[in-house]
Amino acid sequence: MEKIKTGDGSYTFINPKYKEVYHSVSGAEEEAIKKYVEPTEITKLAKKGHIKILDVCFGIGYNSAAAIDAILKSNPKCKIEILGLEIDNNLFDAMDELTPVFKSYKYVKKAKNGFFENNNLSIKIVFGDAKKTIKDVKEEFDVCFFDPFSPRKQPEMWEEQFIKDVGSKIKKGGVLSTYSCATHVRINLVRAGFKVKDGPSIGRRAPSTIATKDF
Ligand SMILES: C[S@@+](CC[C@H](N)C(=O)[O-])C[C@H]1O[C@@H](n2cnc3c(N)ncnc32)[C@H](O)[C@@H]1O
Repeated sequence: MEKIKTGDGSYTFINPKYKEVYHSVSGAEEEAIKKYVEPTEITKLAKKGHIKILDVCFGIGYNSAAAIDAILKSNPKCKIEILGLEIDNNLFDAMDELTPVFKSYKYVKKAKNGFFENNNLSIKIVFGDAKKTIKDVKEEFDVCFFDPFSPRKQPEMWEEQFIKDVGSKIKKGGVLSTYSCATHVRINLVRAGFKVKDGPSIGRRAPSTIATKDF
């Protein structure tokens, strides 16, 4: 896969099938922090001592690594459980050539065979089509990172049924973040039981979307 340097100096890849980058070209690390970690307020949640994250389209794991760093900085004793859904099981090989700023990336890389665990962190990756694998997920999560390729390139990942299936795994009071602000995506999120609002506009004029499930 072709590796590219993004605007904040961090690297990401270009997917050969969809001809789309895995992260914003304005800054891959910045996107993980500003669009996923900060607006989901996981550092506040970390104070409670236990966070469960559903990382839909886990990719090369930047969003999860950025989240682990932020959570452990907020509360080093926080128990973190991450479930990643990802179709491409070759990405972990590609990750060997990446050294992002995230300290926790070393743990993410260790989930290569689908599982990593240490004292307070567990990362499980379910490889396969997330539209199918989501149906077998039995748990509920506090936070969801929803990061497929764009609605234009991969419309099936933004359809109502899939978003409803994802939404059904998010706890009441939980939050989902996604970079898209497309109207039909927001409508599907509302149909899945979320309230939506603008998230940060990092690297482009349009905002991202923060979707919350009220108690
Ligand atoms: C924009 S990238 C995600 C970047 C990732 N969140 C990160 O932080 O590195 C989109 C990802 O969706 C994955 N993907 C595409 N179709 C999928 C499907 N049907 N099920 C699960 N993952 C899929 C791709 O392989 C790719 O890794």
